[in-house]
Amino acid sequence: MRRNDFGENFIWGIACSAYQIEGAHNIDGKGISIWDVFSEKRNKIANREDGKTACDFYHRYPEDLANIKSLNIPNFRFSIAWTRLIPEGTGKINYKGIDFYNKIIDGCIELGITPWITLYHWDLPYYLELKGGWTNRSIIQWFENYVELCVQQFGDRVKHWMVLNEPVAFTGAGYFLGIHAPGKRGVENYLSSVHHAALCQAEGARIIKGYYPNSQVGSTFSYSHVDAHTETKKDYLAVEKIDALLNRLFIEPSLGMGYPTEKLPFLNKIETFIKPGDYKRLQYNFDFIGLQTYTREVVKHSFFTPVINAVPVNAKERNVSRTLMNWEIHPPSIYQAIKRMDSYSGVKKIYITENGAAFNDIIIDNSIQDQQRIKYLDTHLQEVLRAKEENMKVEGYFVWSLTDNFEWAEGYHPRFGLIYVDFKTQKRIIKQSGYWYKKFLENRN
Ligand code: BGC
Repeated sequence: MRRNDFGENFIWGIACSAYQIEGAHNIDGKGISIWDVFSEKRNKIANREDGKTACDFYHRYPEDLANIKSLNIPNFRFSIAWTRLIPEGTGKINYKGIDFYNKIIDGCIELGITPWITLYHWDLPYYLELKGGWTNRSIIQWFENYVELCVQQFGDRVKHWMVLNEPVAFTGAGYFLGIHAPGKRGVENYLSSVHHAALCQAEGARIIKGYYPNSQVGSTFSYSHVDAHTETKKDYLAVEKIDALLNRLFIEPSLGMGYPTEKLPFLNKIETFIKPGDYKRLQYNFDFIGLQTYTREVVKHSFFTPVINAVPVNAKERNVSRTLMNWEIHPPSIYQAIKRMDSYSGVKKIYITENGAAFNDIIIDNSIQDQQRIKYLDTHLQEVLRAKEENMKVEGYFVWSLTDNFEWAEGYHPRFGLIYVDFKTQKRIIKQSGYWYKKFLENRN
C-alpha cells in the first residue's frame, strides 16, 4: 500500500485539540474553561492531572509546526479555545487570543500546511456552564456569536471548518455520565444538551457558509462499529440500541431523519426541549462528514441496565488485542464505519478526521520504536483503501495525534502522538511512527 494508491486528491493530515495541547490556561487574557474547573475536582482525572500546561503548544507552536513540516504532513487540524477569544463565553472579546490563532494560521500557511479548524472541541467557557452550559437553550446564541467572530477573523485564510468535535462524546460523558467536564448527570441534562448541540452543529455551519460560500464546512462524528456478543435476538436488539446512541444520534437529525427514537424510546423525552421550527433548523447539508473511529464495540443485552438494557463487553473481558485505552484493535471496523456513513445518501464526502492509538512508548537511546502504532495505522489505512477502492466517498485521513497530549479523564498516561513529549522538560522526540508516516506521505513505503 502506497500513498499513490489513494489518488492524488486524497487529503492527508494530523489532528489535535486546543485544551489537550495548548496549556497557558491563564495567559494573555484567556478565560476559565470547564476542563480547568473539572480537573480541580477530586478523583475526576487520573493522577489528578490537568491541562493547565499540557504540551505548552501556546509557546512552542513554532517547533510543533516545524515538525509537521519536517514530516511532510500537508494538513493540520486544530481547534480554537472559545475562552481565548471570548473569556466569559459571551460579551467582551480578547484580541490577544485572536492574535495567537492568527499566528498559528499564518505559520501554517507560510510552511505550506493547510489549516483545518474545529470550532468546539469540548472546552466550554466556565461562565457559560454557570448558566447551564449546553443544557441552556441560550447556548445557541452564544455559540453563533462565537462562530461569527471566528469566521470574521480567520475566514479570509481558513477554508476548512468543522463545527463540533464528537457531540456524542461531550454530551454523553459530560452531561449524562459525569465522567468528563462539566461532570453533570441525568437524562434531562443529557437530552437538553444533545438537542442544543445538534442545533448548534447546523447553525454554526450556516454561519460559516453565509460568510464564505466556497469554504468547506463539516462537523465531526464519533463512530464505533457495533457487533453482538452472542448470536441471539436479545443481543442483536442491544446492538441496535447502542448503535443508535453512539452512531446515529447526531448525523441523522442533520440529514433530516430526526432522532433515532424508534430504537431508543427514552429519546422521545427530547420533545420537551424541541421548539417549533427546530426539526428544520437541525438539518444541514454538510460539505463533508468528519468521521472519527478507533475501535468497535461488542455488546450484550442487560436486564439490569436501566434505560437501554444493553452493555458493552469490554476488550479485556473478551481477551482480545487492545491499546492502552483498553480499546480493541479491530481494523475492519474503520471500513464498516465508512461503509455505514457512505450508505446515507445525504452524506457527500467523508474524511477520517481522527484515527490512531495509545501504546506504552519506551525511549531507548533517544528513539521510540513504536511498532505497534505503525501496525495499527498501516492496517487501518489498508481498510480505508479497501473502502476507497469500493468507490465509497472517503477522501481524507488525519492521524490522531501530532504530539502526546492531555487525554481528558485519563490524564497524560495514554500517549497517542507521532511525536513523544517529555512533559517535565517539554522536549519532543519524533517516534518511529512519525518517520513511518513521513515516508508513507513521500510515497516511499
Ligand atoms: C477525541 C480526542 C481524544 C481521542 C482519543 C476522540 O474522541 O476527539 O479528543 O483524545 O478521541 O481518546
